[in-house]
Amino acid sequence: MVNQKGGVGKTTTSVNLSAALAIAGKKTLLLDMDPQCNATSSLGIEPTKRHALIGETPIHESIQYNKASCISIVPGSRSFEDIDRLAGPNIDDTQRVRRHLDDAFTNFDFVLIDCPPSVGRLTQTALVASTEVLIPIQCEYFAMEGLTQLIQTIKQVIVSTSGRLSFGGILLTMYDPYLELTKEVDEEVRDFFGEIVFETVVPRDVALSEAPSHGQTVFQYAPRSRGAYAYTQLCMEVLQRD
Ligand SMILES: Nc1ncnc2c1ncn2[C@@H]1O[C@H](COP(=O)(O)OP(=O)(O)OP(=O)(O)O)[C@@H](O)[C@H]1O
Ligand SMILES: [Mg+2]
Repeated sequence: MVNQKGGVGKTTTSVNLSAALAIAGKKTLLLDMDPQCNATSSLGIEPTKRHALIGETPIHESIQYNKASCISIVPGSRSFEDIDRLAGPNIDDTQRVRRHLDDAFTNFDFVLIDCPPSVGRLTQTALVASTEVLIPIQCEYFAMEGLTQLIQTIKQVIVSTSGRLSFGGILLTMYDPYLELTKEVDEEVRDFFGEIVFETVVPRDVALSEAPSHGQTVFQYAPRSRGAYAYTQLCMEVLQRD
């Protein structure tokens, strides 16, 4: 989940799509790579002192299973040292992250990575290790601003990984069908990106913003909400594309 813009729904999507995939019976791992650790905290889990991606300990030893949400998670870490190493210029670090993730890939159907709001080295490391990138876009003015830079970065990674990475999809979030602006952004994004834009849109729903304060996914907090419905739809679309 990548977008250098803050507050567009990366974490909300990481957490609830992970839960939806897990509920659908897919072995799913949520990896918190954002030093803000929002994905971790939103499940009521404590960030760790050291990030599991640092060091040589196999990643499966750092995975926590959160039974209530059905989510397997590698918690985030606020430690600056970890951030520096994860984001360091050292190619070994990037390779180590990729090795750890390859290790995780062997045991999971899906590994979802929640990235920080930047296209800095942390995000680039995540991209290098990934096979697909999902970009949440908030339906607001300036939604497309900065996307060109993001797309450039992603294209560079696609080239440098010999095509291991691809565009997984673009997701419109905080969608309000009654707002003219939402419709304009929707049209502009679909005109520009075509069919990689998910048909599913995630409406603005207070249940999605309240769930984290209860340490829950939307499926625990408000299973009948529009937000829960939207992330179920998204999950089905992801599975159909897979
Ligand atoms: N569809 C939605 N409806 C209502 N509120 C939402 C929705 N999606 C996200 N939010 C809320 O908007 C805020 C930002 O969402 P979120 O944390 O998922 O974005 P982010 O891209 O991960 O942010 P950051 O860039 O800081 O990591 C949060 O308070 C979240 O609860
Ligand atoms: Mg976030």
